[in-house]
Amino acid sequence: MLAGAGLFGLGAGAGTGVTVGTQRLVPERADPVGAVRRAVLAPVAGDGVHQPGIAARAPAHLVFTAYDLTATDPVAARAALGAVLRAWTDGGQTLMRGASQGGLPQGGLPQGGVSQGGVVGSGVVRSGAAGMGREAAGLGPAGLTVTVGIGAAGLRRAGLDARIPGPLADIPALPGDRLEAARGGGDLAVQVCAEDPMVAFAAARQLGRLAAGLVRPRWVQRGFQRTAAAAADPTATPRNLMGQLDGTNNPRPGSAQFDLAVWAAGGPAWMRGGTYLVCRRIRMLLESWERLTEDARGEVVGRRIDDGAPLSAPPAAAGGGEDTASDFAARGPDGRPLIADNAHIRLSNPQFHGGVAMFRRGYSYDDGLDAAGEPDAGLFFLAFQADPRTSFVPVQRTLAASDALNTFIRHTASALFAVPPAPPAGGYLGQSLLE
Ligand code: HEM
Repeated sequence: MLAGAGLFGLGAGAGTGVTVGTQRLVPERADPVGAVRRAVLAPVAGDGVHQPGIAARAPAHLVFTAYDLTATDPVAARAALGAVLRAWTDGGQTLMRGASQGGLPQGGLPQGGVSQGGVVGSGVVRSGAAGMGREAAGLGPAGLTVTVGIGAAGLRRAGLDARIPGPLADIPALPGDRLEAARGGGDLAVQVCAEDPMVAFAAARQLGRLAAGLVRPRWVQRGFQRTAAAAADPTATPRNLMGQLDGTNNPRPGSAQFDLAVWAAGGPAWMRGGTYLVCRRIRMLLESWERLTEDARGEVVGRRIDDGAPLSAPPAAAGGGEDTASDFAARGPDGRPLIADNAHIRLSNPQFHGGVAMFRRGYSYDDGLDAAGEPDAGLFFLAFQADPRTSFVPVQRTLAASDALNTFIRHTASALFAVPPAPPAGGYLGQSLLE
């Protein structure tokens, strides 16, 4: 059976082709791009080791919600933390399998909450009976992933200060930060990604309802990137709102460099195989950026805008391209470095940071206009790493001091979450933290 069958009336027909609406699609071997498009709509199976939504290709839509626990005393907060993690484990798994309708009652859940045993107060008696609401009726799973994180603030609220892992230490104030507290931080976070915006919305909504009463939403950030349906090559590096190819020199999932950069190897047992997620809402000052010539834009980053090749690479006609390695020592006829001293890729490259990398998996955001009528749009930077103290923090310190990009961006919010490994069979995310 074809991945994604059931979407848009897509069904396997007679012979080797498939039918979408009235259109007959050619067989997959003659249509590799179509095969990729169908694959991105399929349900995502976890690997049983790590949470989904980290190493996998980022689907087109993001709904990222940070929550605070409502309980004020540590004992209740701790019970609530366990209940929420259990509900999101079961609920996330059900949603990712592609439950398309109605596990939860329409019209909202009673206020109160789940406890690890079942009910608190007027409570909700749900544990894991998640399903999309009607808003997603008729849609497939659309590559949905649900990824859950825990903030240091949540552990403190639950009286678990002593169990805060070193890498979850608060990100220090950094030069140039213009952070809005209300858009940052959080006790808990849920990252929902899907190729379809209705599916992403519905899943995020249902997960919020599963924890109703125990948590209150603190902030939400929606994000997007190009859809697989529109892209000439859905596997190509996506562009951000500045038009740059963004993600070129990321560690490759599955490589030794990725494993080292992303998965927590030491530290407390409950985080082994997990990772730490740095979120930064970075506004782009697009009006200024768009006044630059294309060459000047390339110099800011250190890569050509058209094909993403480093400025040290030969022209495309001579074989230079996105995958050509950056040569930071190369100089032009005038003796100046081809990749400028203040270029973004020089200042952030792992070779200047003790070899420590991070995995960037951010999304563009567009939150309309500010009071001056300028776009409040930019990059919702998401980076997974084994220890932000040795990756994000020193890299951002360096960037804040002299990155040529600083003229065109502004960091407006910040958050950090511990993303535990996949739950044990039959158990829940972060279980060993609470046992
Ligand atoms: C590389 C854009 C913020 C870390 C790049 C590249 C672009 C880019 C176009 C080159 C292509 C690539 O390798 O992905 C941006 C924009 C940002 C931003 C527009 C803000 C709006 C950040 C931040 C960090 C960061 C906050 C970390 C603190 C990196 C790293 C690389 C990179 C590590 C790879 C450099 C290399 O090894 O070549 N970024 N970036 N970026 N960026 Fe950013």
